[in-house]
Amino acid sequence: MTAKRIKSIAVLTGGGDCPGLNAVIRAVVKTAINKHKLDVWGVQDGYLGLIENRMDRLSYNDVSNILTLGGTILGTSNIANPFRYAARNGHRSPYKDVSDDSIRVLRERGIDALICIGGDGTMAVAAQFAKKGLTIMGVPKTIDNDLVGTDVTFGFDTAVTTAAEAIDKVHTTASSHHRVMIVEVMGRYAGWIALHAGVASGADVILIPEIPYELPKICEYVVARSSRGKRFSIVVAAEGAKPKGGAMVISHRIAYSPDPIRLGGIANKLAAEIAAQTALDCRAVVLGHVQRGGTPTPYDRTLATNFGHTAMELLMKGVKNHLVVLKDGRFGSISLGRVAGRTRTVPKNYGLIKAAIAVGTSFGT
Ligand code: F6P
Repeated sequence: MTAKRIKSIAVLTGGGDCPGLNAVIRAVVKTAINKHKLDVWGVQDGYLGLIENRMDRLSYNDVSNILTLGGTILGTSNIANPFRYAARNGHRSPYKDVSDDSIRVLRERGIDALICIGGDGTMAVAAQFAKKGLTIMGVPKTIDNDLVGTDVTFGFDTAVTTAAEAIDKVHTTASSHHRVMIVEVMGRYAGWIALHAGVASGADVILIPEIPYELPKICEYVVARSSRGKRFSIVVAAEGAKPKGGAMVISHRIAYSPDPIRLGGIANKLAAEIAAQTALDCRAVVLGHVQRGGTPTPYDRTLATNFGHTAMELLMKGVKNHLVVLKDGRFGSISLGRVAGRTRTVPKNYGLIKAAIAVGTSFGT
């Protein structure tokens, strides 16, 4: 059986934004128009645009000059799920499955395939659409670098660069004031950003969700540094870092979000605890959404361009319901079913953890 020839595609960006989204959109749209002579539609605000039937035709010019632009020209949403949608018309209504309506708005425009650029939440919804017969191609986005199946997601390199630059600046003020500075970076269930930015900026203590910490060990370590004449310490903590036998620090909950928990507060908690235990002067710095903003690094621009191009090429070869990946240096794809609902955490035997320990970094254990 030959696959139906694709003549028209739509593209959306879902979940939290990240540097490099526009570079993927550009690669997808330019490849689709230039090489494959397709019609291309841009869905506004992720799955919310599908639910609300908001999408526009994209031309070559629409995606010109956006390669280096942070954010997404299409807009995004990390709370809209067509399979569990709660409309908010002044009052909260119960959840409804509006996925058939979303599929209909695509079919009415003659759209044959949907390219979903997003993280785990976006891919979970994409996999549900694939089961309903929609032709999908996923592109792996997230600063957290925690999507299963790919060695790296675009946005991660930029977030690490931003975080490392900030930690470098914290270093000098920590040194001047002889303080313990605790820098909180993003990373809910995986400590990739904390580990890479921490190592890159010479952090003394790195705390990641995969390795629960012991507060007395952190205190012993910073006091020992102080006694050795190193009168400051830098602690880099992933927002999802937690003590042994304890829990992550939740900042708030967004009831209508598919993943309602928002983390935040570990740096303030640790600053108070370390100060109380050691009498050292401590300060907390929370980098937050700064890590998601700004111009993508050249690495992320090229990765995003390769991902966008690969997505289009695979789609035109008849591959569908897959996520584009970079595995062992090669671009390819894996089934969406193997990605949905899973998180790629930092392995305990990861080389960079061993290297960090070898140079004297503490993981609070
Ligand atoms: O998944 C990306 C991410 O930036 C996480 O690192 C962070 O916990 C979360 O999104 C923040 O979400 P929001 O933009 O809704 O505050």
